[in-house]
Amino acid sequence: MPQTIIFDDALAGLLAQEQPSQEQLVCLLGATGGDLIAAADRVRQQHVGDAVWLRGLIEFSSYCHHNCCYCGLRSGNKKAGRYRLSPAEILAAVQQVVAAGLGTVVLQSGEDAWWTTARLVELVQEIKKQYPQLAITLSVGERSYADYAALRQAGADRYLLRFETSNPELYAKLHPGTTLAQRLDCLYHLQQLGYEVGSGCLVGLPGQTLADLANDLLLIRRLRLPMVGIGPFIPHPETPLAGATAGDVPLTLKMLALTRLLLPASNIPVTTALATLDGGGRQNGWHAGANVVMPNATPSVYWQQYELYPDKAQLGDSLQYSLATLVEQITAAGRYVGQGPGSALARKEYNHAEHTAQ
Ligand code: 5AD
Ligand code: SF4
Repeated sequence: MPQTIIFDDALAGLLAQEQPSQEQLVCLLGATGGDLIAAADRVRQQHVGDAVWLRGLIEFSSYCHHNCCYCGLRSGNKKAGRYRLSPAEILAAVQQVVAAGLGTVVLQSGEDAWWTTARLVELVQEIKKQYPQLAITLSVGERSYADYAALRQAGADRYLLRFETSNPELYAKLHPGTTLAQRLDCLYHLQQLGYEVGSGCLVGLPGQTLADLANDLLLIRRLRLPMVGIGPFIPHPETPLAGATAGDVPLTLKMLALTRLLLPASNIPVTTALATLDGGGRQNGWHAGANVVMPNATPSVYWQQYELYPDKAQLGDSLQYSLATLVEQITAAGRYVGQGPGSALARKEYNHAEHTAQ
């Protein structure tokens, strides 16, 4: 069959909410993105409207005992600047997020043993006590079921943990000492505990094929993820992948668009990695199906040290300044800023999906 017919059939199938095949997804990823992106933009508008949700991101520790081959914070990088915010500094940053009118705070760190689950529980409880309306998203890596349960009990609402790649061999190569199965177990545990779970992948990892990316999309769909984070890989000079090529921006936009078509009511952020490779990355992402952005609410003296990849895009040197720029960009894109926690699980499609998930 000619490629154009496969493409048209595949897109029509997606719009009818049919389960695509891996082959169809490869075809869609391999074509120029115009039609796909326009379709995703329409589906985004129909299902989640024109709001763009802001999440205040606090990167509270750059210590990490993992050694992921792509990441500047890997334990093997002895040149990485390491810092750890105290609970009081984190609470002050949360206060800034609330004062700025944002409805969600995201607490992210490397896998830092100092931040035991007991310490995190205390922090989450304190935040919930002070700001009961604020949604708390954690992104602190792999922990046990009991740890996730304690954090949920303490008041954490959401959890971000990317599976990074659904190819088990590639996963094992890039994550010394850990497996994809282990990562997926964590995601299942988080779902069982009632977290709103976010996951996703990197685009353009060395050795990754279009078939791998198609499988990533099928996994995203199978997990019925309410939040999906997808960003391009960016080589960091102090990692084993220093000499590799960065992920492709148009391919990343097609991944966002396909995610929107596969999960119409999900929350999809534009990632800072995309904005780093493409000056217009945020706007392009919002027009390819995305509806979230995560401005940095970490005290700015620490920004440079949370270096997952180099030359991280920066909106301004404070949260207030970044927000002013973002609001301008959101308005210029014909969108408006969402108010409140902006949960995908609150949408009726998700309530329905829970009962129909295969
Ligand atoms: N390029 C792009 N994204 C990266 N991440 C880590 N290192 C890099 C890199 N070099 C992403 C991972 C992780 C998230 C917090 O940051 O996908 O899940
Ligand atoms: Fe640590 Fe996360 Fe970087 Fe891996 S991606 S080295 S777990 S901070």
